[in-house]
Amino acid sequence: MQLDLQSSEFIVNPYPTYAELRERSPIYLLEPRVWLITRYHDVEYLLKSPLLNKEVPSIFDQCYGRDMSDEPVYRIYNNFWASMGSSRRKLVVKALNARKTSEVRALVQKSADQLMDKWIGCGQADLMSVFAYPLPVQVICNMLNVELQQTLDFLAETKLMARSAEPNPLTAAELDDTNAAALRLVAFFREICRQRREQPGDDLVSQLLVAEEDGERLSEDEIIANLIILFVAGYGTTANALCNTLRLLFLHPDQRELLSAKPELLSCAVEEGLRFSSSAPFTFRTVMEPLEMHGVRIEAGDSVYLALDSANHDPEVFEDPDRFWIDRPATVKKSLSFGQGSHYCLGAKLGNIAVEVAVETLFRRLPNLTIDNIDQLKWEPTWVFKGLESLPARW
Ligand code: HEM
Repeated sequence: MQLDLQSSEFIVNPYPTYAELRERSPIYLLEPRVWLITRYHDVEYLLKSPLLNKEVPSIFDQCYGRDMSDEPVYRIYNNFWASMGSSRRKLVVKALNARKTSEVRALVQKSADQLMDKWIGCGQADLMSVFAYPLPVQVICNMLNVELQQTLDFLAETKLMARSAEPNPLTAAELDDTNAAALRLVAFFREICRQRREQPGDDLVSQLLVAEEDGERLSEDEIIANLIILFVAGYGTTANALCNTLRLLFLHPDQRELLSAKPELLSCAVEEGLRFSSSAPFTFRTVMEPLEMHGVRIEAGDSVYLALDSANHDPEVFEDPDRFWIDRPATVKKSLSFGQGSHYCLGAKLGNIAVEVAVETLFRRLPNLTIDNIDQLKWEPTWVFKGLESLPARW
């Protein structure tokens, strides 16, 4: 079968294509030495397999056909990656999870209310730009105890940085802009590290500075890289998870009514939104040793795209997978929306809490919320993430 991941048909509705791939070609050759894997059990197996590696720096070198390690933006990714070796990764996980869930929830609630207070009187707005994008940035700033827009427009800088993680290389001019953003962010966080060394607090920067495990510590460059990557990895995924879930709830009024009658279903509704319309639909790996699956041999050095969104619609695991069903019966296997195994999303808990608090706050503070033209909303024209261009709302 011929597959065009960039086509608008695929972006609008990838599920029939995924179903055909799972059925007829579960290990699909996308281009020479690049594979697409679509069945839940295969994706799960490969996410956990030690035969594959998430070699981000080498993927950037391959993408540009040259060594990118001296470019300021890719130096940040390399420093982040250096801190993701298994024992050092624990330091980041420990610092990120230092706050109790109830504290994180309160911090997200404060961020959501701060933002909503600015536009609640308007009666209408694009929820994507006034709420969904700024929310995760505001939350991470509050976790770091840095003033939003103190000297930098974090959202603008993060958007510039995020482009550098997409599979197509940037033009020379785009690379210059992105490098400039990277250097501004590094300078900003170097100064924050200096301040927190002098006057530690209970914020994430202070926690990363003192984090120690088995005698290991993170260097300042690694800490700065982690702080920047938290923004880059957390803002679009969370914003899209929120708007994709809202879209589903408005497309399915019976499910919205069910949620309003049974607010205790909130976390199930968010989990189902993430399963049904995964904001990070793919991840990728490099194969380190040859392997064989369903009679197909994949060689060392080949790349594989793992279609998390397809796995989440696999009828082998999820009953009636193309139905949005907020009280769906519990399954033995969880959705793969945050990945699984050694690279499981570092911000999964925060992302989930952010979407839950945002949905609850919107419905509570805007009881007459409606979305314009709900069945005609446009998707961003990319297969790399799944997100709406805008979410025009009235209340
Ligand atoms: C609902 C929102 C989110 C979704 C759906 C999501 C999804 C994902 C997925 C699918 C991966 C790739 C896992 C893999 O390659 O195996 C990932 C990795 C990651 N996520 Fe998230 N994420 C979300 C929110 C966040 C937030 C809020 C943060 C940070 C505060 C974050 C930080 C990261 C980082 C640093 C990684 C890289 C981990 C690694 O490769 O070892 N994510 N996320």
